[in-house]
Amino acid sequence: MIGGGQLARMTHQAAIPLGQSLRVLAESDSDPAALVARDVELGKHTDLDALRAFAKSCDVLTFDHEHVPQEHLRALVADGVRVHPGPDALQHAQDKLVMRERLGALGLPVPPFREVTDAADVLKFGAEHGWPCVLKAQRGGYDGRGVWMLNTPQSAQRVVPELLAAGTPLMVEQCVPMRRELSALVARSPFGQGAAWPLVETVQREGICVEVLAPAPDTGALGEQAQELALRIAAELGVVGLLAVELFETADGLVINELAMRPHNSGHWTIEGARTSQFEQHLRAVLDYPLGATDLVAPAVVMANVLGAADAPEMGPDERLHHLFARYPDAHVHLYGKAERPGRKIGHVTLLGERMDQVRERARLAAHWLSHGVWLDGYDIHGGQR
Ligand SMILES: Nc1ncnc2c1ncn2[C@@H]1O[C@H](COP(=O)(O)OP(=O)(O)O)[C@@H](O)[C@H]1O
Ligand SMILES: [Mg+2]
Repeated sequence: MIGGGQLARMTHQAAIPLGQSLRVLAESDSDPAALVARDVELGKHTDLDALRAFAKSCDVLTFDHEHVPQEHLRALVADGVRVHPGPDALQHAQDKLVMRERLGALGLPVPPFREVTDAADVLKFGAEHGWPCVLKAQRGGYDGRGVWMLNTPQSAQRVVPELLAAGTPLMVEQCVPMRRELSALVARSPFGQGAAWPLVETVQREGICVEVLAPAPDTGALGEQAQELALRIAAELGVVGLLAVELFETADGLVINELAMRPHNSGHWTIEGARTSQFEQHLRAVLDYPLGATDLVAPAVVMANVLGAADAPEMGPDERLHHLFARYPDAHVHLYGKAERPGRKIGHVTLLGERMDQVRERARLAAHWLSHGVWLDGYDIHGGQR
């Protein structure tokens, strides 16, 4: 796996029962996966020589992120390396403009969009489609970095030239009037087998996913529509491995936001909440094994991200864990071994249960506690509920 972040760390964990030890190309020995995996090489994903040397000892190459340059991927494929997902598929997760153009050409629901080469493009687009509009870096963004909400023509005139001058290729799209955000997660193997988990709801704050509800409540026919849509995209683009399709639910149905071709934050709940976790499924898919069952194991599953707090909590992580488990013995905690910087994803917690509202509240309290060392509901660690 290229990249040593938390996705590689959790993929390593899933590889163990399959009799595999994940080989990881990490940038630093303090990367989340490098802290736990034995088979780690240090190197940059932008260095073709490092990629080539690493690939020599791998059966198949896959990714923790989408930042390996296309030309390097193509060089590896030309060398005879098995790369899953391959560059033809992966470009749609690397470049939002390429993705919008391709999905639009397939007749799939995407918001109106256009490429931006100067501020006038955005002004024209805003005049046609209304304000606010959403400006995006075509490549390299994540967790809302690379997404700018433009409320007025003035803000476009200010922001666009600055970004273009800094060398950021841009696009603009309609600000979609949405009810909520959803994510359809599927896997596809080289053999062509597909598997879809139940549709989930993702809750974002400031461009970062904070909660995932599985299954998404009150979806009606949307659940199956989204699964079919994601399986169709996986087949049309020739994806091997996991595909997450981020979706907006609107009054007129589903609109596609973006694609990820790797284990995804919206699928962390599957580790304890589904028969097969996304990390195992990704390995099965890239190794061309038959795919695993995707059913939920409880009526309601909620994953909440643990984000680094703005103010350092009084208690250390160890003490916070201690108190969390005292209150919620059934909480499933994953910490990634990352330093606690404000807003950074440092872990997640998953809770399972019978009723979505109750499970959601418990997961929210648990994650907030791990981030801040404060119980949002005033729970007293010494005397129970006040
Ligand atoms: N066209 C849009 N209309 C409304 N909100 C959007 C739009 N595009 C993105 N967003 C909001 O910004 C978030 C991040 O955008 P996204 O393109 O998914 O970037 P990232 O690569 O950082 O995840 C989305 O989850 C959504 O909340
Ligand atoms: Mg996104």
